[in-house]
Amino acid sequence: MCGIVGAIAERNVVPILVEGLRRLEYRGYDSAGLAVVNGADGLKRVRTPGKVAALDALLEDEPVQGGLGIAHTRWATHGVPNEANAHPHICRDQVAVVHNGIIENYAEIRAEQERLGYEFASDTDTEVIATRIHFHLEQGAGLVEAVRKTTGELEGAYAIGVVDTREPDRIVGARMGPPLLVGLGVGEHFLTSDVAALIPVTQRFLVLEDGDIAELERDRVTVYDRSGEVVEREESLSELSADAVERGQYRHYMQKEIFEQPEAIANTLEGRIHGSRVLEAAFGPDAKAIFNRVQSVQIVACGTSFHAGLVARNWFEGLAGIPCNVEVASEFRYRHPVPRADALVVAISQSGETADTLAAVRGAREIGFGPVLSIVNAPESSLVRESDLVLMTRAGPEIGVASTKAFTTQLTALLLLVVALGRRRALSSESEHRIVEQLRSLPGVCERVLALDEHVHSLAGRFADKHHALFLGRGVQYPVAMEGALKLKEISYIHAEAYPAGELKHGPLALVDADMPVVAVAPNDALLEKLKSNLEEVRARGGELYVFADQNAGVRPSPSVHVLEVPPMGEHITPIVYTIPLQLLAYYAAVLKGTDIDQPRNLAKSVTVE
Ligand code: G6P
Repeated sequence: MCGIVGAIAERNVVPILVEGLRRLEYRGYDSAGLAVVNGADGLKRVRTPGKVAALDALLEDEPVQGGLGIAHTRWATHGVPNEANAHPHICRDQVAVVHNGIIENYAEIRAEQERLGYEFASDTDTEVIATRIHFHLEQGAGLVEAVRKTTGELEGAYAIGVVDTREPDRIVGARMGPPLLVGLGVGEHFLTSDVAALIPVTQRFLVLEDGDIAELERDRVTVYDRSGEVVEREESLSELSADAVERGQYRHYMQKEIFEQPEAIANTLEGRIHGSRVLEAAFGPDAKAIFNRVQSVQIVACGTSFHAGLVARNWFEGLAGIPCNVEVASEFRYRHPVPRADALVVAISQSGETADTLAAVRGAREIGFGPVLSIVNAPESSLVRESDLVLMTRAGPEIGVASTKAFTTQLTALLLLVVALGRRRALSSESEHRIVEQLRSLPGVCERVLALDEHVHSLAGRFADKHHALFLGRGVQYPVAMEGALKLKEISYIHAEAYPAGELKHGPLALVDADMPVVAVAPNDALLEKLKSNLEEVRARGGELYVFADQNAGVRPSPSVHVLEVPPMGEHITPIVYTIPLQLLAYYAAVLKGTDIDQPRNLAKSVTVE
């Protein structure tokens, strides 16, 4: 992953670089660094393990400035997160490089460079890029040419930013795989892996395509395509506003994003339902023709988005009568699945940049699956550009690494898709009306569940000293339990596993004792009585139960059974709503444990490497 920012301007670019990094920290936060070129002073680099705040503190002590620079926040792939491995990487005080991605043939290149007399100061794959560019410069190439020659030798994925003290009036960027954009200013230009970094300075940008090389000078930007020809890339205007990424009154972004869910869901629905129907036009002008051909659905996604896919499978099959497979993208891409030309490939991704999800989509196309529909939150993302149909979730920027509003808006969007496809199959118009009515009620129901905040907070107190937890659900609630377990382990570091409640007696029951809290999701649905029997199995073994149950479910509290009563709601929206108290539980358990909630250890929000 990692975040890249570069800037060339008449003014000192260091504050722009640091603010940009702060906004990109969600991509990785193992270490941070920047390098500026400053006339006679040459190249100045400042780097540190840890977060951007640590870099900022260093810069306070030893300020640097310059009108041209590149900066980086890292999520370690090659080499531990220490200062030596932090970017930018420099070769012979002349060339500095920041890099996002993985160079697969770096070991061979490194051996060759060592033979040529280059010394290496880090364990990273990035340093080979810096030395190789230096080598080509020494052979007489200009910077753009040296970058072209070097990238031609690289195997793998990269987005890079490069500066050279001998050409102190340009930054060169190159992309193959991970995103890279050029921000357009007046008399100043910028490079970044995500527009969010540049919102304080510009909303105008160009998206580079694979194989592109961009040359940024103060008064112009030139983009070359993979054959070296100058190309025009279309200018876009970002819809992000600066305050969309502020934390406001909330203690953490995650908390803010949990409480934004009613509004986010309302935005997802806006203009997509009318009267008692889902509007097919919401999926784009080609939707009708594509939907008419679809006989089945293949979902690919990672992490939380994968859980959204698992919920949707229940809907596709149970409500719409459409066969549906769901697979983790990193497995799907290497498994040699049997292609079905009439299967709609549905890719779900908050960022639209997850490397495995993108590769799964490309692979599916290559082997002959049908068209691709993506459910994405980031409008400027690669997945949006590569899909035949797109349904934006419109959750707004999600900064907390643990996904919350992205998940519930993905589910909302998926339910719209289930209806649009289902009405061609098993879904009656009465069912469509019922679902649309329930969707309309969603923001209000979510508000009512968020009002249970204090109660969940008090329950969370009982988790803070625990090391393990089990989450149970049945049917469509099983993936909800999986999502609850994922939230808890991601941010509180409490080991948590989810099981379909019926599987309890096939193993996990052996783990149950007073130190193993068991959380269950119990809406008032067809599986409620079965779930209650499973909960009895836990109680009979001295387990401590936390049941998030419908008010009318008849789950009685006792000293070992803690019940959070959830207001009644339409059956189809329960997976969306029941996720919310699980998010709050994880959040408050993590607050009590004092972990770094928005940036949990070892994780990153956008996983643009394999
Ligand atoms: C990372 C994030 C998760 C996210 C997953 C998939 O692991 O920390 O929150 O669910 O990537 O990301 P995507 O952007 O494709 O939804």
